[in-house]
Amino acid sequence: MRAAISVINMKGGVGKTTIATLLCRRLAQSLKVLAIDLDPQANMSQALMGEDGYRRFLDDNSPSVVEVFKGYQPPSSAPSPTPLDATEVARAIRRSRNGELRIIPSRFDFSNNLRVASTADEQALARFIANGFHDIDIVIIDCAPTESVLTRAAYHASRHILVPVRPEYFATIGFPLLHRSLEDFRGSNPGHDIDVLGVVINDAFYDGGNQGGPERIRAMAEIEGEAAKHHWRIFDNQIPFSRGFPKMMRGDHSWLGNATMFYNFARELRHSLSEEGYLS
Ligand SMILES: Nc1ncnc2c1ncn2[C@@H]1O[C@H](COP(=O)(O)OP(=O)(O)OP(=O)(O)O)[C@@H](O)[C@H]1O
Ligand SMILES: [Mg+2]
Repeated sequence: MRAAISVINMKGGVGKTTIATLLCRRLAQSLKVLAIDLDPQANMSQALMGEDGYRRFLDDNSPSVVEVFKGYQPPSSAPSPTPLDATEVARAIRRSRNGELRIIPSRFDFSNNLRVASTADEQALARFIANGFHDIDIVIIDCAPTESVLTRAAYHASRHILVPVRPEYFATIGFPLLHRSLEDFRGSNPGHDIDVLGVVINDAFYDGGNQGGPERIRAMAEIEGEAAKHHWRIFDNQIPFSRGFPKMMRGDHSWLGNATMFYNFARELRHSLSEEGYLS
């Protein structure tokens, strides 16, 4: 059964895009993965398509997630609006013997597109995914830290939420916001099961091995307490601080240091999905 996960925390800079992007790359070695970039910053699109690839995509006026919300491809080379072609919208990034990676890129870069985003039909994305992509094993959606109609669109398109968190001051400020937002969503969509798959501790250790001192210990206790309050599990495998991550995002695997610990987390996430009957 296909899995669909949105990476969300209503706190900025916690590693959502890094984790979503690297999960897509890792899982695509053995699964068919569809990445969806719902963040106007388009960092995931840039990382997966490469800077040049993303620039070409912008220059070519190729369809993006904005067209998914609009529901059609506006006339450009064609003389009239045309239906969206799923294989064109979900661009192929990489294909291997067992896996495949495709992305629906973000292009909320013009004020007009932002207007589309603020008035979007929040179910359009879920409908688009449901009607095609029967071969896809897992959908991973990167979200912006601010709650908007795009967050609701991500919920509609997801079964699970992955919550990255940094053990830092005010670490859990986004937890009650996310909890309330999910409760609201469940209230207005009673037939839709949506759950937090887990909280993943990002940026966990510090170079030098001092574990971050009392601040980190305090933050970890706060995270454990808040997660327990909402019955959210915390993944056993933490993602360490590593200068390897920004490099990995660019696709440079020359020196990764303890960034390779990310793969343990990816394995645990995949295992927990299989345990729940997904990805089988
Ligand atoms: N484990 C890590 N080790 C080192 N640097 C990290 C780690 N995780 C994230 N970073 C860096 O922290 C910054 C923020 O990460 P990222 O963009 O993934 O966060 P985000 O939650 O997506 O942010 P936003 O809320 O703006 O979307 C980036 O520069 C990223 O390279
Ligand atoms: Mg981000």
